[in-house]
Amino acid sequence: MKTKISAIAALASCIAVHAATNNFVVNVGEPGARIQPTMYGLFFEDINFAADGGLYGELVKNRSFEFPQNFMGWKILGNVDLKADGPFERNPHYARLSYPGHPGRLTGLENEGYFGIGVKSGEEYRFSVWARAVESDSAKIKVQLVNTASQYTNPVLASAELTADSKEWKKYTVTLTPDKTVDKATLRILLAKPESAIDLEHISLFPVNTWNGHENGLRRDLVELLAAVKPGVLRFPGGCIVEGADLASRYQWKNTVGAVENRPLNENRWNYCHNNRYYPDYFQSYGLGFYEYFLLAEEIGAEPLPILNAGMVCQYQNRPDDQLPLDSIRPFIDDALDLIEFANGDTSTTWGALRADMGHPEPFNMKYLGIGNEQWTEIYPRNLEAFMKYIRAKYPEIKIVGSSGPKSDGKDFDYLWPEMTRLGADLVDEHYYRPEEWFLKQGNRYDDYDRKGPKVFAGEYACHIKGKKENHFRPAILEAAMMTGFERNADIVHMTSYAPLFAHVEGWQWRPDLIWFDNLRSMPTSSYHVQKLYGNYKGTRILPLTMNDSPVSGADGQNGLFASAVIDDDANTVIVKVVNTGNEKQEIDIKFNGLEKGRKILHGKVISLTSVDPGDENTLDNPNRIKPVTSSIEVKDESYITRVDGNSFHVYVFDL
Ligand code: AHR
Repeated sequence: MKTKISAIAALASCIAVHAATNNFVVNVGEPGARIQPTMYGLFFEDINFAADGGLYGELVKNRSFEFPQNFMGWKILGNVDLKADGPFERNPHYARLSYPGHPGRLTGLENEGYFGIGVKSGEEYRFSVWARAVESDSAKIKVQLVNTASQYTNPVLASAELTADSKEWKKYTVTLTPDKTVDKATLRILLAKPESAIDLEHISLFPVNTWNGHENGLRRDLVELLAAVKPGVLRFPGGCIVEGADLASRYQWKNTVGAVENRPLNENRWNYCHNNRYYPDYFQSYGLGFYEYFLLAEEIGAEPLPILNAGMVCQYQNRPDDQLPLDSIRPFIDDALDLIEFANGDTSTTWGALRADMGHPEPFNMKYLGIGNEQWTEIYPRNLEAFMKYIRAKYPEIKIVGSSGPKSDGKDFDYLWPEMTRLGADLVDEHYYRPEEWFLKQGNRYDDYDRKGPKVFAGEYACHIKGKKENHFRPAILEAAMMTGFERNADIVHMTSYAPLFAHVEGWQWRPDLIWFDNLRSMPTSSYHVQKLYGNYKGTRILPLTMNDSPVSGADGQNGLFASAVIDDDANTVIVKVVNTGNEKQEIDIKFNGLEKGRKILHGKVISLTSVDPGDENTLDNPNRIKPVTSSIEVKDESYITRVDGNSFHVYVFDL
């Protein structure tokens, strides 16, 4: 009933038209600052099962038996033992499958995957395992994908046999092709010659069809959504996981590179972070590690921006001042120096050689490095100063991103910004998860920032409407409005990214998020479409745009309108973004000044994001309820007059 009423109200508001025409003037003849290629980016954070169980294509949970409960995620049939002297030093556990004690019984293992294993009919899945025969020269397993939900029909979706032909550890692979699409299958492994025991380690199952076909690859549909944003920068690997719950569980990039089999498991600090959403099986296999992040950034055309621990423990989960003394943080600084060598060093260097061994002899050409996620108190600038001293001395070309703490303003923010200026950070990362009222007042946020200090990285932001944390349409409109202010201030705002990026519908700890998925499907939110429109129409230089001689920033008297304009020198277009945050339909008249003599703007297109009800949202069952719609436009008499619905976002692309 409530939905119906709000839909009717929204419809009524769309029909009502605000009386006055809003006169916009775009000065095409006076392009301003260059829009940085990094302007609209992505922030990947391993929260909400975004990595293991999400972007990372691995379908087996606890593949190396290293979870604290070693068989978590596995069901044991018959005679299975845990052993701890396996071939991989940092993941020593493995399973031994032996004779079940009776010819009629079975020995085997079943893996439940992450909220089940999603498989598609006719698609290939690569099963791999490290194995050895125990007593005899060969041992055999049967590998199956099973539809455990199927009670009446044959539950086996695909089946294959695999022989271990040696008493030495070896990697074996077999391909499974299920004949049905099932979102919650299980992987079953049975001892096929019951009298011949077998040892199994690093049991893995990947779709063959990963993004770009990489073996240790990423889920294709999810990367395609990322690539479609045309992101200029990719920040990784988090967020709070950079700090961990304590120093031992902080993110350590060196543990995430080299052979996947030997990357040690780390707990994910989001597994028990929220009282009402525990995920005791949320760990980081580090299969998606720094090499894979760099590769992803490269393949989607984004600058990589790794964030490293600043030698500090999370100040939310620990006493804020309970930190290491300054003279103990040198290993953290060395990690930063070594990371630059891993990313950019030539192949004669220790870390550059590892990168080459992993398959990428060319440098990743990393230009930016973030030190610290959300830290505060004077300990943070103290540590950052030490990091900067060593990094600047060895790698002066690297641009360093500092932090302004966890809030958009207030005591810590006001302390940290001048500190970042004093230290000479190149960019300062700002975070804001704020309500509607706040976003409506941010149109001018960056207009008065010091132009001589560090540049801005709006590294985590999202509109959180009180009591409604889903990704409905209204917050997306407010984010689009705020982004006009980013764009107008592109001389100082050099990077931005919404947060968080991904969430599994069955495994989230935080919402709203940009992209939701389950085991087989993925869904762009309204906020995603906003990011994508900005990313695809970022232009190359800012153009002045005014309404009554003022920037259109939702100020008093501007009827809830926000707008910005850019020129795209490559595409030869003028792009005007207009957001109507009010409830009423409004008329706007866009005039172009400063066109070269004899030149006229005659046509173009508009891409509009609207929704009948601002409370609507996309869902996995209805992923396209809200999506951009493109139409062509004609300009008459040197001005373009149009009407924009209440709660709507439009990107006008005028051909020059
Ligand atoms: O994005 C969720 C969390 O918000 C991040 O981990 C942290 O940086 C911020 O507090």
